[in-house]
Amino acid sequence: PRDLRQLAQQNGINIGSAVDVAVLRDEADYRKVLNREFNQVTAENAMKWESVEPQRGVYTWDDADALVESARRNHQQVRGHTLVWHNQLPAWLTTGVEDGSIDATELRAILRDHITTEVRRYKGKIRAWDVVNEVVEEDGTMRQSIWLKHLGPGYIADAFRWAHRADPHAKLFINDYNLEWNAPKIETTLSIVKDLQAQGVPIHGIGFQGHLGIQYDYPADWANVMRRFADLGLEVAITELDVRMVLPVTPEKLATQATYYSRALTDCLSVKACREMTVWGFTDRHSWVPGWFEGEGAACLLDENLAPKPAYQALLTVKRPR
Ligand code: G3I
Repeated sequence: PRDLRQLAQQNGINIGSAVDVAVLRDEADYRKVLNREFNQVTAENAMKWESVEPQRGVYTWDDADALVESARRNHQQVRGHTLVWHNQLPAWLTTGVEDGSIDATELRAILRDHITTEVRRYKGKIRAWDVVNEVVEEDGTMRQSIWLKHLGPGYIADAFRWAHRADPHAKLFINDYNLEWNAPKIETTLSIVKDLQAQGVPIHGIGFQGHLGIQYDYPADWANVMRRFADLGLEVAITELDVRMVLPVTPEKLATQATYYSRALTDCLSVKACREMTVWGFTDRHSWVPGWFEGEGAACLLDENLAPKPAYQALLTVKRPR
């Protein structure tokens, strides 16, 4: 294959990237590479609640609309990210809950309206939605978010039902990090899925974020974990892949990084139900990693100048295991 788009096409999967919409507007070279290499996009921030409803009842869809429109023009599918999360909630919501001016009944109605409004707006234009994001803690307990605290565990089933009603054709995912290897998280997430399925709740996919680092071992059991979810009938996706390293960059570290990227793609291709691999940004020029992990970075496939790194080249040689 000559690029990732062709690689995706040859393997019958989607290869996507998270997109910073401000950068998409400002930087022509970023735009060009994004549209050449990827057949799917995810908004890095633009579809999150604080972005689309910064003040109560005041919706700001410009960035999200721009991404969906850009995807249409460039024949890319879209992953919707994310409807229910504990981060990047608008301040009016979190303060309202804290000071008691929003009670549980109202909170439930607010969540229903949020999901319905956003999913309906992009009905028919979003391939898959991350309906709930990061709902399980590292120790396998349910995350103590405002949703769990005020609405009880039933908020998850409700969220999927509301999303399905608003766009019956969108694939609905539960998405999480460290799910590649963390046993308690894996087991709890599997039981959440089984539980939802037993109640007839429309859930269609499992998202593995895939935020990896070369200072940690590659999650060698990942393909087996994917298979356990696939065995429940779910579609599998890698939704936020990146492979960070402790700086400075060296040729050895780049070579190791390349093996992590290609193993991730190989794992996906070894599981029939895995239909998507999305990277959380494609260039080291714009990546969340340096801002979050001190002294780390260089997590993407292309460098700051958009030159392909060894990881990019390695991906192009990956074959579906037989
Ligand atoms: O928009 C403001 C801007 O007005 C302000 O000047 C600037 C100053 O800090 O902040 C801007 O907001 C930032 C926002 O990204 C948009 O760029 C926030 O500070 C920053 O915290 C936020 O970070 C995002 C992070 O989620 C927040 O939780 C990252 O870009 C984004 O990559 C990251 O993505 C998450 C996925 O959604 C879920 N999985 C984990 C992943 C990585 O953390």
